[in-house]
Amino acid sequence: MDLGLNGKRALVLGSSQGIGAEIARVLAREGCNVYVGARRLDHIQSLADELSEEFNVDAKAYPIDLSDGISVEKLCEMITHEWKIDILLNNAGGPPPSSSTGVSDEIWESSLQSLLMSTIRLSEAAVKGMRERGWGRILTVASSGVIQPIPNLAVSNTVRSAVVGFTKTLSNEVAKDGITVNMVLPGRIDTERLASIHKASANKQGMTYEEFRDNSRSSIPARRFGTVKEFAEVAVFLMSVCASYITGSVIRVDGGVIQSV
Ligand SMILES: NC(=O)c1ccc[n+]([C@@H]2O[C@H](COP(=O)([O-])OP(=O)(O)OC[C@H]3O[C@@H](n4cnc5c(N)ncnc54)[C@H](OP(=O)(O)O)[C@@H]3O)[C@@H](O)[C@H]2O)c1
Repeated sequence: MDLGLNGKRALVLGSSQGIGAEIARVLAREGCNVYVGARRLDHIQSLADELSEEFNVDAKAYPIDLSDGISVEKLCEMITHEWKIDILLNNAGGPPPSSSTGVSDEIWESSLQSLLMSTIRLSEAAVKGMRERGWGRILTVASSGVIQPIPNLAVSNTVRSAVVGFTKTLSNEVAKDGITVNMVLPGRIDTERLASIHKASANKQGMTYEEFRDNSRSSIPARRFGTVKEFAEVAVFLMSVCASYITGSVIRVDGGVIQSV
């Protein structure tokens, strides 16, 4: 299947490792030029070099801290005035584990900024050029917690649910302009984030990391964690020309772990 991504230009955030890095890799494999963004410049620079070399695309690194509103504003300026972005992948780090009470204002505010406000402002900036060109894809990586809240991830469950409301509303406003806006939900994808969540939960429940991981794995209908490749292939399909009639949707990549239809 030709995904129609050859020569398009994507901005892929949270791409120094894990899910975001693999999405950038699969986009580049399809011939898409990419800006890769995250805080660690050394990581995104080596990813950009690898993608340019391996797939012969124009890949550039853009260091960004999505929890810093001023940096996000500067990135919005780049999108509005300098870059031509056909595809925006909103993605950032997950908030630290916590229950619903006793979370500091600092954690709430930085999570609201990096996961919600950055998605709002960057999507708004991207939509302008996409409308002029009559084509665009905005995809946001969230979590299964927006459907089935995950214990001990109160900040993630809460803040990401607001992103669902924004995404659905925006999708209705821009569908007629050839722009799709969707969300993709990881269940349990094998990354450093999953390992750190499992370690925190194991500690909290007085279990070893290995015991907790085995229990976690066996509670998934597929009986295994997902790979970043399995996740990225779906995400890239949603950003492709082929997915032109999917918008305002929340797509699960979860091996069946979410227990609702
Ligand atoms: N893996 C799973 O099973 C799973 C399940 C549910 C939800 N999720 C969510 O899906 C997203 C991606 O997951 P993942 O497993 O790939 O996470 P990850 O391994 O922790 O990677 C997160 C990426 O986001 C970047 N990042 C973190 N904070 C940032 C900030 N303030 N500004 C810019 N970039 C930032 C990190 O790079 P730098 O440190 O270089 O900035 C990194 O590239 C996360 O939000 C995660 O919580 C994952």
